[in-house]
Amino acid sequence: MSTSSHHILVKFGGNSLSGQGDLERFAGELAELIDRDYHPILVHGGGPEISREMEVRGMAVRKVAGLRVTDDAALAVAEEVLSRINAATVAVLRAKGINAMGVSAAQAGVVCRPKPPVIVIENGVEAKVDLGRVGDVVGVAGTWLDEVLDAGVVPVIYPIGADASGDRYNVNADTMAAFVAQAAGAETMVLLTDVPGILRGGEGSREVVHEVTFQGIDELIAEGVITGGMIPKVEACRDAIRHRVAVVHMLNGRDPGSMVRKLIGQERIGTTVTQG
Ligand SMILES: Nc1ncnc2c1ncn2[C@@H]1O[C@H](COP(=O)(O)OP(=O)(O)OP(=O)(O)O)[C@@H](O)[C@H]1O
Ligand SMILES: [Mg+2]
Repeated sequence: MSTSSHHILVKFGGNSLSGQGDLERFAGELAELIDRDYHPILVHGGGPEISREMEVRGMAVRKVAGLRVTDDAALAVAEEVLSRINAATVAVLRAKGINAMGVSAAQAGVVCRPKPPVIVIENGVEAKVDLGRVGDVVGVAGTWLDEVLDAGVVPVIYPIGADASGDRYNVNADTMAAFVAQAAGAETMVLLTDVPGILRGGEGSREVVHEVTFQGIDELIAEGVITGGMIPKVEACRDAIRHRVAVVHMLNGRDPGSMVRKLIGQERIGTTVTQG
């Protein structure tokens, strides 16, 4: 692994960057970071696009604790949509002169296993929900990631992983980002989303929590402030920090220049997670 540059994992979702214009602006911001000796590693989701495609095909969309219930047909849609977003992203980055290479997490060597059923409380009653083809990450096999980083390549990874026998799983993109960040030895992880960080009044409120500790996260979950897709996101932040990622920010990907302003300009935007 090269030591001169600062490895930074940047994750974006489908709502944080939508359409060609956003993607081009994002590529410009990444180019600016690369000029300042950052070496990005990208992971992306595609939640809204997957849901849209499932609806077009008349499939039911269901999420539990922020995770998509994924049967075989939904996995096929997720793979198709994510690989399409991946190819579009790589094309835009390369057009900006960035040496990007797109792969699935499975191709990058990420090893998964089925996620155990999640326990949810519905109307005061505990229920176990089997998420189907949703994976947890268990490790990374081979040296692909180290080799491409050494070669100065910017990997662009979509979160479909495989187990040892090649069966594939849909993994939440934030969960995948935290894992890839630690596997790549990234010092910094930035999760770009469609909100300006954790909102104190919950979804739709205005007040951003700029700094939050592990314990603060527990409290916000218990109070019902953090819900939906924000749950796997904050868990990913904690996971990354537990595994020696030094700096973890959530930023609004729709806010032009937010990454550069936060990392270079030290602007007080987004949410920074610390162990506390
Ligand atoms: N307290 C909170 N503050 C901010 N957002 C919250 C909060 N609680 C729940 N959310 C929801 O979390 C969402 C972000 O997670 P979501 O999974 O939808 O997007 P993403 O992770 O950026 O994209 P993708 O899942 O496609 O990778 C917000 O749009 C908001 O609706
Ligand atoms: Mg999400």
